[in-house]
Amino acid sequence: MMRKLVRCKINGRDTETVVDVRASLTDMLRNEYRLTSVKKGCEVGECGACNVIINGECFNSCIYLAIWADGKEITTTEGLVSADGKLSAIQQAFIDEGAVQCGFCTPGFLLSAAEAVNSGKDYSDDELRKVLSGHLCRCTGYEHIFRAVRKLTAQQQKP
Ligand code: FES
Ligand code: FES
Repeated sequence: MMRKLVRCKINGRDTETVVDVRASLTDMLRNEYRLTSVKKGCEVGECGACNVIINGECFNSCIYLAIWADGKEITTTEGLVSADGKLSAIQQAFIDEGAVQCGFCTPGFLLSAAEAVNSGKDYSDDELRKVLSGHLCRCTGYEHIFRAVRKLTAQQQKP
């Protein structure tokens, strides 16, 4: 089995570990760093449960090799929480809008939402639905999730 050193920044912290060259980024984050907000759903790039932000852009980490993360900056949902344990605005919006049911899909949605909010772009409703369309929620909380993200992106646009 071939193994390789991967050095990257995860949630603001410099890390290094040796991984199987065939390992997915999902497995590296969960098994080496215990970042269990990164969920294993379909594992074929369809459901968005394993979504993480890599260098500012969302990716399904189940179809992203761990070795590709070398030199990159990765954010998981754990990284949205501030050092003193305070939830980010997007997490609070999900709570306020009742956008969480079983929570399995939530970390993936949160990171796509964070990417949209951080972009500062003025999304139309349709564009925002498209941003969120890469995620499946079995509890069918889509409208609440949409409302939470809409609320935050709208706040961003206020002068
Ligand atoms: S687990 Fe990666 S997209 Fe479903
Ligand atoms: S809240 Fe259960 S899968 Fe989305």
